[in-house]
Amino acid sequence: RGKRAFIAGVADDNGYGWAIAKSLAAAGAEILVGTWVPALNIFETSLRRGKFDESRVLPDGSLMEITKVYPLDAVYDSPEDVPEDVKTNKRYAGSTNWTVKEAAESVKQDFGTIDILVHSLANGPEVSKPLLETSRNGYLAAISASSYSFVSLLKHFLPIMNPGGATISLTYIASESIIPGYGGGMSSAKAALESDTRVLAFEAGRKHKIRVNTISAGPLRSRAAKAIGFIDMMIDYSLENAPLQKELSADEVGNAAAFLASPLASAITGAVVYVDNGLNAMGVGV
Ligand code: NAI
Repeated sequence: RGKRAFIAGVADDNGYGWAIAKSLAAAGAEILVGTWVPALNIFETSLRRGKFDESRVLPDGSLMEITKVYPLDAVYDSPEDVPEDVKTNKRYAGSTNWTVKEAAESVKQDFGTIDILVHSLANGPEVSKPLLETSRNGYLAAISASSYSFVSLLKHFLPIMNPGGATISLTYIASESIIPGYGGGMSSAKAALESDTRVLAFEAGRKHKIRVNTISAGPLRSRAAKAIGFIDMMIDYSLENAPLQKELSADEVGNAAAFLASPLASAITGAVVYVDNGLNAMGVGV
């Protein structure tokens, strides 16, 4: 039987989530995605109208099939957590069952089990503010959407994951080195995500034989990254300074994710794997 993957954080064809979905599809996996509720309508419409068809092409010439798109807002664990103003917001009111717990229940009802869980989402409302100017709410929102969202996804999907399965998240080197401009507590959120990768690898490994890894990816001009505002500078910096002087393509991260999710990586867990043209290894630029 082929593997089944749930990829949280796909809302267009520019980000890492889309590229990971493609690499997993090319390797034969069935693809389910979780899409942020406010972005759901436009994503499904674009998909249906063929707007992504060019980027759906797999190496063998066939088109990636997304078996089902689930609405998801990973900052809410269950319906009791959703505030009234969100519930009644017109971007949310048209969808149902989009808290993490309900999404896992829907997947269970539709398909029974999954083998691969991917977390490719982040949000920091104050990302453009330096940490010193970040509010408590902004900081906690970054941690909630970018770090706890992974804990919650794993907690709710673990019971429907087949033993031997794997989970992957995406992190950024700002967790461990100073990257001015990556503010709002996003650097803190990535540090939490990396630490949680180790602790959750232990807990999910012992309990369910599930592997937990995170990919520290280099800069990509995704929708989220453009919102931060310094992405072109980071891409140029990497081109200048990394051991491999080429632009990083999302597919390279997708392929690394497919490897980490596969039996080829059966002894790799609790790891931060750099897919960044080697930039992390540089001490000074030359
Ligand atoms: P993206 O915009 O393609 O993906 C982010 C996704 O998160 C979007 O689809 C957005 O709708 C979704 N999202 C935001 N809040 C959500 C919520 N509460 N519930 C559910 N979904 C939510 O951008 P990108 O850059 O591909 O981001 C994917 C991951 O890669 C993120 O964790 C990001 O931090 C990480 N990353 C990105 C880098 C870059 O340069 N683009 C570098 C290193 C890591």
